[in-house]
Amino acid sequence: MELKFIHMSDIHLFAKNYEYGDVQYNTNDLFEAAVEKFHTNHDDADFLLISGDLVDNGSVEGYEYLKSTLENRWHKPVYLCLGNHDNRENFNKVFLEKNSNSPYYYMKPLPLGETCLITLDSGKFNPWMGIIDCEQLKWLEETAANIDLPIILMLHHPPFLGVDMDSFKFQLNNSQDIYDILKCKNIVAICSGHVHGAYSYRLGQFPVFTAEGTGFGLNFAKDHSTIATDERGYNFCILNEGNVLIKRIRF
Ligand SMILES: [Fe+2]
Ligand SMILES: [Fe+2]
Repeated sequence: MELKFIHMSDIHLFAKNYEYGDVQYNTNDLFEAAVEKFHTNHDDADFLLISGDLVDNGSVEGYEYLKSTLENRWHKPVYLCLGNHDNRENFNKVFLEKNSNSPYYYMKPLPLGETCLITLDSGKFNPWMGIIDCEQLKWLEETAANIDLPIILMLHHPPFLGVDMDSFKFQLNNSQDIYDILKCKNIVAICSGHVHGAYSYRLGQFPVFTAEGTGFGLNFAKDHSTIATDERGYNFCILNEGNVLIKRIRF
């Protein structure tokens, strides 16, 4: 079985027809350009993942723009997760049609039925880091115990083991908790964002892939300040026999 999917991240959308003014990058136009590229280059993709920072300022109007763009321009399954720029209440209002500020996390079977997706909401621990709260850790432990299929895990903040928080702050605060719960499971890929760059590394035995933002890239300075760059893209991913091949697509 071969499963093909697109992993994009950090689209940082605004309301439709937003006046960009001083904002350097027109992220709405760039997102639409990326979606256009899917149709011309990746019509064979089975689904789309977007790993957080869906909107830049958490606005209802930004989520409405995302929802309508996906409904009008992309007719395959889409799976979303929330990042530190997102607003749970406004997201839930638009996408789930409910008034709630609960975190957005779930497990779903993926197309072709031989893999499943677990998505976690890493929220905002501080300006750089995310954290998976106790409610989700408990749910993850119970849910994972009943899954025998290979799992793709999606969360906004990239998890690391053994990387000092003082040396690199742009990560998940409690990565060890996630690893301890999942270490005996078949995790075929962990898909993250937040760093606005395409990196691949391992969390223990599990491969982790981050996708570039579709709006802008980021360079990191030693003092943790960031500089926005023109480096943007997404990942086209092929899962075959438990191995994931990533093609980084620049545009
Ligand atoms: Fe971002
Ligand atoms: Fe982020």
